[in-house]
Amino acid sequence: MLRSKTIVLGVTGGIAAYKAAEIASQLTQAGAKVNVIMTEEAVQFISAVTFRALTGRPVVTEMFDLASEFSIEHVSLAKAADIVVIAPTTANIIAKLAAGIADEMLCCTVLATKAPVLIAPAMETNMYTNPITQENLSKLRARDFVIVGPATGWLASGKVGLGRLADINDIIGSVRQVLGRGGDLTGRHIVVTAGGTQEPVDPVRYLSNRSSGKMGYALAEAARDRGAKVTLISAPTSLPEPVGVNVIRVCTAEEMRQAVENVTLQADSLIMAAAVADYRPRKRAKDKIKKGKAGLTLELECTSDILGTVKGDFIKVGFAAESSNVLENARAKLKQKRLDLVVANDITASDSGFGTDTNRVTIIDRKGKIDSLPLLSKREVADRVLDQVAALLPKPKSRRSSKC
Ligand code: CTP
Repeated sequence: MLRSKTIVLGVTGGIAAYKAAEIASQLTQAGAKVNVIMTEEAVQFISAVTFRALTGRPVVTEMFDLASEFSIEHVSLAKAADIVVIAPTTANIIAKLAAGIADEMLCCTVLATKAPVLIAPAMETNMYTNPITQENLSKLRARDFVIVGPATGWLASGKVGLGRLADINDIIGSVRQVLGRGGDLTGRHIVVTAGGTQEPVDPVRYLSNRSSGKMGYALAEAARDRGAKVTLISAPTSLPEPVGVNVIRVCTAEEMRQAVENVTLQADSLIMAAAVADYRPRKRAKDKIKKGKAGLTLELECTSDILGTVKGDFIKVGFAAESSNVLENARAKLKQKRLDLVVANDITASDSGFGTDTNRVTIIDRKGKIDSLPLLSKREVADRVLDQVAALLPKPKSRRSSKC
């Protein structure tokens, strides 16, 4: 979704300016055209050459640089931008933006643009919490600036506190979310489940599976980037929480079932990418089970089939993790669980299924139509699944009238 987008990346004079290099690199790698504008102070912290090399584009460091292709018409960058991102944003720049001061190229660009503006403040805690800065931020918020962070952590002063630049994933996730406004899932609520549930045996042990959660997280991010409101019900994973997504953390299959029932009361689609345990220990030992010479037999009972039993008027999508007779088993699940779509994957392939960043899936719909996809990144698979979900969703108008 960043391909073909033009992004102005403003870099201001704070110690976190070096992190802007990673932002410029990631946005460029994702296919965006990144035009960097540096303030005079930013150049003290990081060289324009770095951004020139990372973006492959001219970098603006002063308003009247006659060698720059942008300075002839100094609002040309503002006009071309799909979004202006300022990271890091100092207290000084926040104050100038709030007051409408345009005495250098970056503030000038912000004043002149009609594109959304996202700022990521980074400064000392006292500067950030100062009522003047807070008042300035409120003004910007009221004018629809998107403010990401700051985070709490290690600061240049050697203290730990609020004021650190937000995580780069959160900044880029927010850029994607802002650019996705008005996408084909705008106004829709998509519920996604992810990860492998954990069924406790005793206070230190549990039964689980090898699901990494990557497929479900990719679905949640992709739905967010197409304008949807997203709820991600996640079993334990090591993945960072996607920004702009409502994450509900659960542990067991039963907790996941309850969360799914609650949030699907107002959902347009449920996509169950989670690997839900089919069995759990009948009893959870109160104390740690001690080692014995005679071995150990655990008695297991069935968990409920969440997807097979959840009720509601929404598009239901299941994943079928199979190691044999992939299509046949997936079709059986589609029918048994009364799904709209089933996404079948062969978990025996080394580049597909659990833990990998790629997946090779076949999507089957209710009418039996089969879409066999090549090996793709999980993010690409997510978008292909969402293409089919979007096509199945009733038009918003007809939905409203049918509910009246
Ligand atoms: N699923 C569920 N509740 C369960 C088990 C699975 O909602 N207790 C969902 C999964 O999230 C997935 C789909 O059902 O979307 C198919 O899951 P899978 O593990 O492939 O199949 P099972 O139904 O568990 O059947 P089996 O393990 O026998 O293949």
